[in-house]
Amino acid sequence: MYICILNNSRLMSTIRDPTPCAILEAGELLKAGDLVAFPTETVYGLGANALDELAVQKIFSTKGRPSDNPLIVHVPDIDSAHPLVESIDTWSERLAANFWPGPLTIILPVRPDSGIAKTVTAGLSTVGIRVPDHPVALALLRAARVPLAAPSANKSGSPSPTTARHVFNDHGENGPRMILDGGSCRVGLESTVVEVRGDDVYILRPGGVTPEMISEKIALSMDRIHMAFRMLESNETPKAPGMKYRHYAPKAPVVPVMNHEDWTMIQLKESDVVIVFDTLNVVGGRRLSFGPGDVRIASERLFDLLRQTDEMNTSTVYIDCSFDHSDGLGHALWNRISKAAARK
Ligand code: TXA
Ligand code: MG
Repeated sequence: MYICILNNSRLMSTIRDPTPCAILEAGELLKAGDLVAFPTETVYGLGANALDELAVQKIFSTKGRPSDNPLIVHVPDIDSAHPLVESIDTWSERLAANFWPGPLTIILPVRPDSGIAKTVTAGLSTVGIRVPDHPVALALLRAARVPLAAPSANKSGSPSPTTARHVFNDHGENGPRMILDGGSCRVGLESTVVEVRGDDVYILRPGGVTPEMISEKIALSMDRIHMAFRMLESNETPKAPGMKYRHYAPKAPVVPVMNHEDWTMIQLKESDVVIVFDTLNVVGGRRLSFGPGDVRIASERLFDLLRQTDEMNTSTVYIDCSFDHSDGLGHALWNRISKAAARK
């Protein structure tokens, strides 16, 4: 593990594993009401003490995030979740037992006396909780000894950061006091967000934990697992408030190309960028690789590739979307690409 700490624009120090000093310092900053960006297995988070209203407000101003979009609260283990929530139903408990630590956020009824800052939940009676599967994130949570509210550490609207450098590039001098560098994120797409109602599981955002995995691990039939996400109209009240915003978008327009035959109808300009699997030959444009044809690798790379197109003076980004969308992770990957393609 390689950790470097960036404090505003200056590289403060670089420390090799283990990193107790860096992480303790980050914990102190969080307790003092500052923001710290940290790696998770999904994407980098922009963390603040979830119990500190002013600190949480800094997340919204730093990201430029609409205040009606609630934040996920990160804890180091399921025991730390108990004081924050009113109750954990049996299905949610099974989900937590099977997938935590991991890329799964569970929406639970917030306990009125939990101390969680109002801004975290955006006035909802529920809170999203997750235990991240990353040694740096877990060490930070243990050092801070407070739950951490953390959205993805990008500026609102741009692709989620999957490296420390992405975080730094988005915020420059005005970003978090510290960025903990844990390398590239393994999953590359944000966590799956789920809510249990009765004996049904609603997936509010698809991610690394797929419906098939949920069905198998908690022994719940697939017809009890519902996809509850789609792009909403601006006047609709969203189930997961984040659903109504355009996300993940690079500067240039994004065009998904669904079938291999469709490429023959596209006249690629030199200023266009194509993001394609290695097995596909296309003529023209500048090529970025989605990897050998594995949806897992493509998911890990997507946000970094979208960010690269920003540096390439790109007219249009064409993305090879011929992968299997019915596969759980393929579905999550397609969800992010289709959002990137949605016009503001
Ligand atoms: O992988 C992840 O989840 C990353 C890392 C840093 O943990 N975090 C992340 O946070 O993606 P953010 O804020 O970018 O996305 C949180 C999503 C939003 O879509 C938000 O609307 C939804 O979770 N959410 C949060 N609290 C909710 C609640 N109480 N009810 C419904 N949806 C909620
Ligand atoms: Mg986000």
